[in-house]
Amino acid sequence: HFVKLGTLTGALALSMSWGVSSAMGQTVLTVTHSSPADSHFGEAAIAFEQSLEAQTEGAIDVVIQRLDNEREALESVQFGTQECAIVSAGPLGNFVPETRVLDVPFLFDGYEHARGVLDGETGQELLALFPRYGLEGVAWMENGFRNLTTGSKSIASPGDLVGMKIRTMENPIHIAAWQAAGVLPTPMAFSELPPALQQGTVDGQENPIPVILANNLDMMQQHLYLTRHVYSPGIFACNPDFVAGLDEQQRAALETSGAFAAAANRKRVEKDELVGIETLRDRGIDIVEIDDIQAYRDAMASAYADFEAEFGAERLQAIRDWS
Ligand code: PAF
Repeated sequence: HFVKLGTLTGALALSMSWGVSSAMGQTVLTVTHSSPADSHFGEAAIAFEQSLEAQTEGAIDVVIQRLDNEREALESVQFGTQECAIVSAGPLGNFVPETRVLDVPFLFDGYEHARGVLDGETGQELLALFPRYGLEGVAWMENGFRNLTTGSKSIASPGDLVGMKIRTMENPIHIAAWQAAGVLPTPMAFSELPPALQQGTVDGQENPIPVILANNLDMMQQHLYLTRHVYSPGIFACNPDFVAGLDEQQRAALETSGAFAAAANRKRVEKDELVGIETLRDRGIDIVEIDDIQAYRDAMASAYADFEAEFGAERLQAIRDWS
């Protein structure tokens, strides 16, 4: 099912119509995501597949594949060698720079706040910018609030993080925030993380509970600090030419199926947040609630002047004040 246009010669690739490959004349829509099937992204992809195939009566065949290098996934969607991808906003800012505002640490108080901003004017305005950068933003998704984990080194306060190598996403805002805290951020694709943790190339990493659970990161880490330092949005993105090639009904079905995917994604994040911490504790990782979250804010504070210069202090405040 998986049509890799990039592997064909240019002339042949250009002469092919989008995603059509099967003998039955079905349009194939490949969507990749970075987590196992039994996860917040996996359930979203399945909800999308069921909805779109049912609504188009099988005219669109959705193929779900795992690709845990999210930068590569977005490049493939932009370039047109795959139709769609569900990715975290980690590398998204390198494609649609305006979305970086969402990556600022401690911007959102909780899920209601973050989801309200994404569903509201800010989120919709950002989605409208995607076509400028060769992407179609179908729906906002989420990974959840990110938490810090470490291997053998433990942390009593953010001061202990100074000089530690922490794997981050390939995200300049996250990198700047950790640098401000004295950390040596080590950006890499998620696909490179397990060997880096196992070989001790990095001392720790940060990810939301749903990701830690689904990928068994607790097996490679000893301590989980519930820092919830940054909300990690996700995006369901497609290739704009592919979308333009669909008929009107199919485009509407793509949109509603994207909304189903987002709903399934959020439901699973909620479930993982509710039971995941206990599950992880039972599996044996040391879980640390942070009493003094302000200490983490303070540790990253020197990065905020740059964030305000980049996004505007008023804009950041307006997002913080959302209600
Ligand atoms: O850490 C990351 O790179 C992301 O959170 C992940 C795990 C790929 C999920 O989108």
